[in-house]
Amino acid sequence: MTSPGTENDVRDNEKQAAASAAVQLVEAGNVVGLGSGSTANYAIRFLAERVRGGLKIIGIPTSQKTKQLAEQLGIPLTTLEEHPHIDIDIDGADEFDPQLNLIKGGGGAFLREKIIASVSRRFIVIADSAKQVKRLGKFPLPVEVVPFAQALIKLRIEALGAQVSLRSYAYGNPYVTDEGHHILDCTFGEIPDPPALAENLRRIPGVVEHGLFIGMAEMALVGKDGEVVQLRR
Ligand code: A5P
Repeated sequence: MTSPGTENDVRDNEKQAAASAAVQLVEAGNVVGLGSGSTANYAIRFLAERVRGGLKIIGIPTSQKTKQLAEQLGIPLTTLEEHPHIDIDIDGADEFDPQLNLIKGGGGAFLREKIIASVSRRFIVIADSAKQVKRLGKFPLPVEVVPFAQALIKLRIEALGAQVSLRSYAYGNPYVTDEGHHILDCTFGEIPDPPALAENLRRIPGVVEHGLFIGMAEMALVGKDGEVVQLRR
Protein backbone atom coordinates (compact mmCIF):
# COMPACT_ATOMS: atom_id res chain seq x y z
CA MET A 1 0.00 0.00 0.00
CA THR A 2 1.26 3.47 -0.83
CA SER A 3 1.50 5.68 2.21
CA PRO A 4 0.54 9.35 1.94
CA GLY A 5 3.48 11.57 1.13
CA THR A 6 5.38 8.93 -0.84
CA GLU A 7 4.99 10.82 -4.11
CA ASN A 8 6.28 13.99 -2.42
CA ASP A 9 9.21 12.09 -0.95
CA VAL A 10 10.17 10.79 -4.41
CA ARG A 11 10.02 14.29 -5.89
CA ASP A 12 11.99 15.66 -2.98
CA ASN A 13 14.73 13.08 -3.44
CA GLU A 14 14.83 13.88 -7.15
CA LYS A 15 15.18 17.60 -6.38
CA GLN A 16 18.03 16.93 -3.96
CA ALA A 17 19.86 14.67 -6.43
CA ALA A 18 19.59 17.25 -9.23
CA ALA A 19 20.68 20.07 -6.93
CA SER A 20 23.67 18.11 -5.65
CA ALA A 21 24.83 17.29 -9.21
CA ALA A 22 24.52 20.95 -10.28
CA VAL A 23 26.58 22.22 -7.36
CA GLN A 24 29.45 19.96 -8.48
CA LEU A 25 29.69 22.18 -11.61
CA VAL A 26 30.62 25.22 -9.53
CA GLU A 27 34.32 26.04 -9.65
CA ALA A 28 36.61 28.05 -7.37
CA GLY A 29 36.36 31.77 -8.07
CA ASN A 30 32.92 31.55 -9.69
CA VAL A 31 30.23 34.17 -9.39
CA VAL A 32 27.13 32.01 -8.84
CA GLY A 33 23.48 32.88 -9.51
CA LEU A 34 21.42 31.52 -6.63
CA GLY A 35 17.93 30.48 -7.77
CA SER A 36 14.67 30.54 -5.85
CA GLY A 37 12.22 27.82 -4.87
CA SER A 38 12.44 24.48 -3.12
CA THR A 39 14.86 22.83 -5.58
CA ALA A 40 17.16 25.85 -5.68
CA ASN A 41 17.11 25.89 -1.86
CA TYR A 42 18.66 22.42 -1.88
CA ALA A 43 21.37 23.68 -4.24
CA ILE A 44 22.07 26.60 -1.92
CA ARG A 45 22.42 24.21 1.04
CA PHE A 46 24.82 21.95 -0.91
CA LEU A 47 26.78 24.98 -2.08
CA ALA A 48 27.05 26.23 1.51
CA GLU A 49 28.56 22.86 2.47
CA ARG A 50 31.22 23.33 -0.22
CA VAL A 51 31.85 26.89 0.99
CA ARG A 52 32.31 25.62 4.53
CA GLY A 53 34.79 23.12 3.07
CA GLY A 54 36.87 25.98 1.67
CA LEU A 55 35.42 26.68 -1.81
CA LYS A 56 35.82 30.37 -2.64
CA ILE A 57 32.80 31.64 -4.57
CA ILE A 58 30.45 34.58 -4.38
CA GLY A 59 26.68 34.36 -4.89
CA ILE A 60 24.01 36.63 -6.36
CA PRO A 61 20.53 35.82 -5.03
CA THR A 62 17.43 35.90 -7.24
CA SER A 63 15.01 36.81 -4.43
CA GLN A 64 14.82 38.21 -0.92
CA LYS A 65 14.03 34.72 0.40
CA THR A 66 17.11 33.28 -1.26
CA LYS A 67 19.22 36.17 0.04
CA GLN A 68 18.08 35.41 3.60
CA LEU A 69 18.79 31.70 3.23
CA ALA A 70 22.24 32.28 1.72
CA GLU A 71 23.13 34.75 4.47
CA GLN A 72 22.00 32.30 7.16
CA LEU A 73 24.18 29.61 5.60
CA GLY A 74 27.23 31.86 5.33
CA ILE A 75 27.50 32.13 1.53
CA PRO A 76 29.26 35.41 0.63
CA LEU A 77 27.02 37.57 -1.53
CA THR A 78 27.43 40.29 -4.10
CA THR A 79 25.24 42.39 -6.39
CA LEU A 80 24.78 42.85 -10.13
CA GLU A 81 26.36 46.29 -9.78
CA GLU A 82 29.57 44.73 -8.47
CA HIS A 83 29.43 41.62 -10.67
CA PRO A 84 27.40 42.14 -13.87
CA HIS A 85 28.74 38.87 -15.35
CA ILE A 86 27.86 35.57 -13.72
CA ASP A 87 29.71 32.31 -14.31
CA ILE A 88 26.98 29.83 -13.45
CA ASP A 89 23.34 30.18 -12.44
CA ILE A 90 21.53 27.24 -10.85
CA ASP A 91 17.74 27.48 -10.64
CA GLY A 92 14.57 25.40 -10.64
CA ALA A 93 11.64 25.40 -13.06
CA ASP A 94 7.94 24.69 -12.95
CA GLU A 95 7.95 23.03 -16.39
CA PHE A 96 10.50 22.36 -19.12
CA ASP A 97 10.03 21.04 -22.65
CA PRO A 98 12.41 19.09 -24.96
CA GLN A 99 13.95 22.35 -26.24
CA LEU A 100 14.60 23.35 -22.61
CA ASN A 101 12.12 26.18 -22.82
CA LEU A 102 10.82 26.79 -19.31
CA ILE A 103 7.92 28.08 -17.32
CA LYS A 104 9.20 29.65 -14.13
CA GLY A 105 7.72 31.82 -11.45
CA GLY A 106 5.55 29.57 -9.33
CA GLY A 107 7.44 31.12 -6.44
CA GLY A 108 7.04 34.63 -7.83
CA ALA A 109 10.73 35.43 -8.33
CA PHE A 110 10.96 35.06 -12.13
CA LEU A 111 11.76 38.70 -12.93
CA ARG A 112 15.02 38.68 -10.99
CA GLU A 113 15.57 35.03 -12.00
CA LYS A 114 15.40 35.97 -15.69
CA ILE A 115 17.71 38.94 -15.27
CA ILE A 116 20.29 36.76 -13.52
CA ALA A 117 19.94 33.96 -16.10
CA SER A 118 20.37 36.47 -18.95
CA VAL A 119 23.85 37.48 -17.77
CA SER A 120 25.03 33.99 -16.83
CA ARG A 121 27.56 32.15 -18.96
CA ARG A 122 25.97 28.87 -17.87
CA PHE A 123 22.33 28.55 -16.82
CA ILE A 124 21.68 25.14 -15.31
CA VAL A 125 18.11 24.07 -14.58
CA ILE A 126 17.52 21.60 -11.78
CA ALA A 127 14.24 19.75 -11.47
CA ASP A 128 12.33 16.69 -10.38
CA SER A 129 11.00 14.46 -13.14
CA ALA A 130 7.41 15.75 -12.80
CA LYS A 131 8.49 19.06 -14.36
CA GLN A 132 9.29 17.46 -17.71
CA VAL A 133 6.53 17.99 -20.31
CA LYS A 134 6.16 17.55 -24.06
CA ARG A 135 4.55 20.98 -24.33
CA LEU A 136 4.54 23.85 -21.87
CA GLY A 137 1.30 25.23 -20.52
CA LYS A 138 -0.35 22.98 -17.98
CA PHE A 139 1.33 25.02 -15.26
CA PRO A 140 -0.21 28.52 -15.19
CA LEU A 141 2.17 31.00 -16.78
CA PRO A 142 2.99 33.85 -14.38
CA VAL A 143 3.06 37.36 -15.82
CA GLU A 144 4.43 40.19 -13.68
CA VAL A 145 2.51 43.43 -14.22
CA VAL A 146 2.39 47.05 -13.15
CA PRO A 147 -0.57 47.21 -10.71
CA PHE A 148 -1.97 50.34 -12.43
CA ALA A 149 -2.59 48.37 -15.63
CA GLN A 150 -3.48 44.93 -14.26
CA ALA A 151 -7.21 44.95 -15.13
CA LEU A 152 -6.47 46.00 -18.70
CA ILE A 153 -3.65 43.49 -19.06
CA LYS A 154 -5.92 40.72 -17.74
CA LEU A 155 -8.40 41.45 -20.56
CA ARG A 156 -5.63 41.49 -23.16
CA ILE A 157 -4.19 38.16 -22.02
CA GLU A 158 -7.69 36.63 -21.91
CA ALA A 159 -8.01 37.72 -25.54
CA LEU A 160 -4.92 35.58 -26.25
CA GLY A 161 -6.89 32.57 -24.99
CA ALA A 162 -5.93 32.23 -21.33
CA GLN A 163 -7.88 32.03 -18.10
CA VAL A 164 -6.28 34.70 -15.96
CA SER A 165 -6.30 35.22 -12.20
CA LEU A 166 -4.55 37.75 -10.00
CA ARG A 167 -2.23 35.96 -7.59
CA SER A 168 -3.30 36.73 -4.06
CA TYR A 169 -2.03 36.25 -0.56
CA ALA A 170 -3.94 35.65 2.62
CA TYR A 171 -7.18 37.70 3.06
CA GLY A 172 -7.38 38.26 -0.70
CA ASN A 173 -4.57 40.81 -0.80
CA PRO A 174 -2.59 40.73 -4.07
CA TYR A 175 0.77 39.02 -3.94
CA VAL A 176 3.50 41.67 -4.27
CA THR A 177 6.80 40.75 -5.92
CA ASP A 178 10.27 41.75 -4.70
CA GLU A 179 10.09 44.60 -7.24
CA GLY A 180 6.66 45.81 -6.05
CA HIS A 181 4.52 44.45 -8.91
CA HIS A 182 1.57 42.05 -9.08
CA ILE A 183 1.35 38.65 -10.80
CA LEU A 184 -1.33 37.38 -13.18
CA ASP A 185 -1.40 33.56 -13.39
CA CYS A 186 -2.43 32.66 -16.93
CA THR A 187 -3.69 29.18 -17.82
CA PHE A 188 -3.33 28.62 -21.56
CA GLY A 189 -3.42 24.84 -21.67
CA GLU A 190 -0.80 23.53 -24.09
CA ILE A 191 1.19 26.40 -25.61
CA PRO A 192 1.84 25.49 -29.27
CA ASP A 193 4.43 28.22 -29.92
CA PRO A 194 6.14 29.50 -26.74
CA PRO A 195 8.39 32.07 -28.53
CA ALA A 196 5.36 33.60 -30.29
CA LEU A 197 3.44 33.83 -27.01
CA ALA A 198 6.48 35.38 -25.32
CA GLU A 199 6.57 38.05 -28.03
CA ASN A 200 2.81 38.73 -27.74
CA LEU A 201 3.10 39.19 -23.98
CA ARG A 202 6.16 41.41 -24.30
CA ARG A 203 4.21 43.78 -26.55
CA ILE A 204 1.54 44.56 -23.92
CA PRO A 205 2.33 47.85 -22.15
CA GLY A 206 2.47 47.32 -18.40
CA VAL A 207 3.76 43.74 -18.65
CA VAL A 208 7.07 43.83 -16.79
CA GLU A 209 8.10 40.22 -17.49
CA HIS A 210 6.65 36.77 -18.07
CA GLY A 211 7.69 33.34 -16.86
CA LEU A 212 8.61 31.88 -20.27
CA PHE A 213 12.39 31.32 -20.44
CA ILE A 214 13.07 30.67 -24.12
CA GLY A 215 16.44 29.31 -25.25
CA MET A 216 18.20 30.36 -22.06
CA ALA A 217 19.02 27.07 -20.33
CA GLU A 218 22.22 25.30 -21.32
CA MET A 219 21.31 22.08 -19.57
CA ALA A 220 18.71 20.53 -17.31
CA LEU A 221 19.69 18.15 -14.53
CA VAL A 222 16.68 16.03 -13.68
CA GLY A 223 16.34 13.58 -10.84
CA LYS A 224 14.73 10.35 -12.05
CA ASP A 225 14.68 6.75 -10.81
CA GLY A 226 17.53 7.34 -8.36
CA GLU A 227 19.75 8.94 -10.99
CA VAL A 228 20.37 12.36 -12.46
CA VAL A 229 19.62 12.69 -16.16
CA GLN A 230 21.44 15.39 -18.10
CA LEU A 231 19.39 17.01 -20.89
CA ARG A 232 20.64 19.52 -23.44
CA ARG A 233 18.90 21.51 -26.13
C1 A5P B 1 10.51 30.75 -8.37
O1 A5P B 1 10.03 31.98 -8.78
C2 A5P B 1 10.37 29.76 -9.48
O2 A5P B 1 10.77 30.17 -10.74
C3 A5P B 1 10.97 28.42 -9.15
O3 A5P B 1 12.21 28.25 -9.71
C4 A5P B 1 10.06 27.41 -9.68
O4 A5P B 1 8.78 27.78 -9.26
C5 A5P B 1 10.42 26.01 -9.22
O5 A5P B 1 10.16 25.89 -7.85
P1 A5P B 1 10.34 24.53 -7.08
O6 A5P B 1 11.76 24.16 -7.18
O7 A5P B 1 9.91 24.86 -5.67
O8 A5P B 1 9.42 23.54 -7.73
